[in-house]
Parts: sequence; C-alpha cells; structure tokens
Amino acid sequence: MSVKPVFVGQLPLDTENAFAADVVAGLTAKPKRLLPKYFYDLVGSALFERITQLPEYYPTRCEIGILRNNAPAIASLFPPGCALIEFGSGSSRKARILLGAAATVEAYLPVDISGDFLQQDVAALRRDFSRLAVYPLVADFTKTFDIPRPVAKLPRVGFFPGSTIGNFEHHEAAKFLRHAGEMLGAGAVFVVGVDLVKDPKILCPAYNDAEGVTAKFNLNLLARINRELGADFDLATFEHHAFYNVEQSRIEMHLASTKRQRVRVNGMTASFRAGETIHTENSYKYTIESFQALARGSGWSPLQSWSDGLFGVLAFSRDGD
Ligand code: TRP
Repeated sequence: MSVKPVFVGQLPLDTENAFAADVVAGLTAKPKRLLPKYFYDLVGSALFERITQLPEYYPTRCEIGILRNNAPAIASLFPPGCALIEFGSGSSRKARILLGAAATVEAYLPVDISGDFLQQDVAALRRDFSRLAVYPLVADFTKTFDIPRPVAKLPRVGFFPGSTIGNFEHHEAAKFLRHAGEMLGAGAVFVVGVDLVKDPKILCPAYNDAEGVTAKFNLNLLARINRELGADFDLATFEHHAFYNVEQSRIEMHLASTKRQRVRVNGMTASFRAGETIHTENSYKYTIESFQALARGSGWSPLQSWSDGLFGVLAFSRDGD
C-alpha cells in the first residue's frame, strides 16, 4: 500500500513540475482555464471509460456501429501490407473492428500517452490477430515519434477515432492533420472519427448525464490538483457546467464556483467571484463538409465518408503522392 503525502499549510512554488506550472498559469489567466490533457490520471481515465458507456453519450456507440457496418469498405481503401497507426488509442476496441476486416494489415501501432492502458491490450491483440505485428508506442501523438525499424518501410494508414480532434481548437486541428500527414508519408490514408453538428437537445445531455459521471470526470481535475499539488479546492463549492455554444459549434465544459472564495494552489491564491468559471474543455462539432474543408487545407483529399447522421467516419488520402 502506498502512503499518500499530506500537505499542511502552504507549499513552496514548484517550478520543476509541468503540471504545477500549467495549473498556476491557467488559474492566473483571464478567463481561468485548465488543460484537458490533465483529465486523464488513473481516476480520470476510469471515469472516461464510464462516460463512453452512458446512455446519453451517443458518440462511442455511433462510431462503433459505423465502423462495424462499413468495415470492409473502409478496409478496402488501405494499401496492401500497411501499418495501421492509431493516435491516442486508449483501449483498442475500435481498431479491432478494422483489423478484423483488413486481412492485409501487417502491423498495428497503438500510440498513447498512458502506458498502462497500452500494455493491457497488446497481449490480447497478439493472441487474437496472430499474424499481426503489434508495436505499442508510449508517446504524445501530437509530437513526432519514431516508427519501429522493422515496419518503417510499410505504407501507413492513420486512425484517429473518438472525435478527439474535436477537442482541439481549429488551428490546432489543422496543425495536427498536417503533422500527421508528414508522419504518415507518401500513399497514406487517414481515417478520422468526427462528431457532427446536431440538435442541442441531443448534444447537451451527452455532456450532462443524469448519473453525474461527466460532472465527476470534470471535478476530478480539481481533486487531482488537491491530491498532487496539495491545493485546497472544496469540491462541494464547484459545479460542472456544460453547454452548447452555437456560434462556435462547440460544447464547452466549465467548473463554476458557487460562491466568492479563495483557493490556495501551489504557493499562489486563486480568487473566484460567485459564478466565475474555469474553462476545462471544448468539444467542437463539424459537418462532413466543414471537416473535409479543414482537412483539405492540411493536405488531405477526401476519399469517402460514412455517417449515421449523428457521427461521421471520414477517410482521406494524402495529396500529391
Ligand atoms: N472527444 C470526445 C468528445 O469530445 C470525448 C471526450 C473528451 C469527452 N473529453 C470529454 C466526453 C469530456 C465527455 C466529457 O466528446
């Protein structure tokens, strides 16, 4: 059993720690914000898995349905003998659907920042797809990572499901798509899962579930700051707010202080007005056409797309190859 550190009083400002530095910068900014990548500690990752199973959270179910119904058509776009590279794989549930339909895929490279999740699935994948070479890579997929030597020469197919691209700002999404194109190289195909613009009556409950799991997921960010940085956020005085911003076509997630208060965090004091929020995440929604336009601007030509009206799976090929 591990002993949790207990912090008494004020901690010195920790400048070595990137998490501490980002939290202090975010709480000093106007308006206040925190970076969504910090949602995914062990508690947060487990809560996120629960979100994907909620009745209100349609994207995961829709995407899996689209992949199942169209797997042979999607797989037919893959260059023979390719390597399938999944960005931010989490559990490889969705890739399995494609791998089952694409007999010629030679290698599967799940890339994830969390090594725990990756290792769990690799053994099962190797058992279920015995001819497949599986190379898990622990890396930040927004940065360049090395492709293992034995599979470096194979043509590449990128896979980016879960509408994770929707959590980027538009300029960041464009930058990521261009960077992915450079990494995937000549002859590459890219398959991206994108949540679509729709009636807020469907969108809003997906981020405001009745059971309160999304609220817990959002509030876990403050709990994590308390745990790891010895802050004194009183979680009972912060509320999960998620709403659809129509002008920006995005769900915004915030944590709202229910009262005027001060919070000690890593040697600084954050003051909150009653109702003031910390902006924690955006989830941008696209139309098939608006996403294709974004991708075109980053060097990808639309090949085909599949949708159930709520969610889209879009395939692209790299320009000029
Ligand atoms: N990218 C997905 C989405 O925006 C999943 C996701 C990321 C999510 N962060 C979330 C879902 C926070 C609910 C709450 O929908």
